[in-house]
Amino acid sequence: MRFGANIMKYRVGVIGLGNIAAMYAKPGDPRPYCHVGGICLSEQLKLEAVCDLSAEARQKFLGTWGETFPGLACYGSIGELFENHELDIVAVCVRGPHHFSVTSEVIQHSPKAIFLEKPPSCSLKEMDGMMDAAIARNIPIMVDYSRHWSHKVLRMQELVADGLIGEVKTVVAWCGGTFLSFASHTTDLICQFAGYCPTSVTAHGTFPESPNVPEGFEPEPSLDNMVIQFENGVTGLQVGSQGPFGSFYCEVFGTNGFIRTGIYTDVHAANAKGEALKLEKLQIPAEESVFKVAYEQMANFLDGGPLPHCTNQDFMSVNEVGFAGIESVLTGNTVSLPNSNRTRKIFANG
Ligand SMILES: NC(=O)c1ccc[n+]([C@@H]2O[C@H](COP(=O)([O-])OP(=O)(O)OC[C@H]3O[C@@H](n4cnc5c(N)ncnc54)[C@H](O)[C@@H]3O)[C@@H](O)[C@H]2O)c1
Repeated sequence: MRFGANIMKYRVGVIGLGNIAAMYAKPGDPRPYCHVGGICLSEQLKLEAVCDLSAEARQKFLGTWGETFPGLACYGSIGELFENHELDIVAVCVRGPHHFSVTSEVIQHSPKAIFLEKPPSCSLKEMDGMMDAAIARNIPIMVDYSRHWSHKVLRMQELVADGLIGEVKTVVAWCGGTFLSFASHTTDLICQFAGYCPTSVTAHGTFPESPNVPEGFEPEPSLDNMVIQFENGVTGLQVGSQGPFGSFYCEVFGTNGFIRTGIYTDVHAANAKGEALKLEKLQIPAEESVFKVAYEQMANFLDGGPLPHCTNQDFMSVNEVGFAGIESVLTGNTVSLPNSNRTRKIFANG
């Protein structure tokens, strides 16, 4: 229970103390782009304990963040973390090939929720296995397509859902890089406006010239372009490069207008005649740390609110699209969802 000023904060544990957990920002950054930076800005959360297998990573982490979290427990294994703490939210911030084993271990300890870094899995079989185990224990898994939680993108999502540009017909988005490890941020952005109901995918991509891939894995191609069809009739187009307005942004075309939005791109909105809408009228809030916003959606859910974004079925849809894109590159065919090949194992090491 939570009581007014003496708020009982949700206890968060972070596994893996590298870039995205802690090192992409420093204490005092106004909008930290990392897990612990978002956690420390939220009144609803308390960073209870962290762990990393590497003594060097632990030392570096404590050197940077130790003063911000005095007395923080820091361990060298997941076992010790759970032996000593009961955690409400656990963030899995290890690299993709470790997501399945680490998340499966975390599920065994029944936290209330898991915040898993993208890409969620290296195969769809891994995703299915994790989700079966999590659902059996009623643990939601939210995947960190972090740019999703930009305040302006969330506000535009809300306005578009409320009919600002009529019925959505087409979403075009820009971002290159590997299908699962990188371009998936923007695949999620397309779904954010098109709906999380993809039905088929056609894609082109490029494989690395000399892939360095461990045994049992296949290399991860980069996205050149991808067409996604949605159950509601919307078409999504992902362009595998920067666009005229940068990267990680989309343009959404509706029956009654058009918008452009993305975390690093100014919002633009126009009516069906192409006349710009006044931005003041759209009431776009100032940006905050996307990690703070995401964690607070999770905290609000634990308070009895709605399921956070990018959770369960939603991230599974994005992941299905990524794997279908790779399948389409390899076969030259349009791939219907859900993918029939669930065992292809990609070295998604982002
Ligand atoms: N959302 C984003 O914008 C974004 C940006 C960068 C990275 N990422 C994702 O975050 C994840 C981590 O990437 P990174 O660049 O921070 O990696 P990193 O290599 O910097 O850090 C990973 C850490 O995990 C530790 N680790 C590995 N196995 C462990 C285990 N079993 N138990 C405890 N610790 C373990 C390693 O020692 C290492 O310190 C990847 O999935 C990546 O795709 C997301």
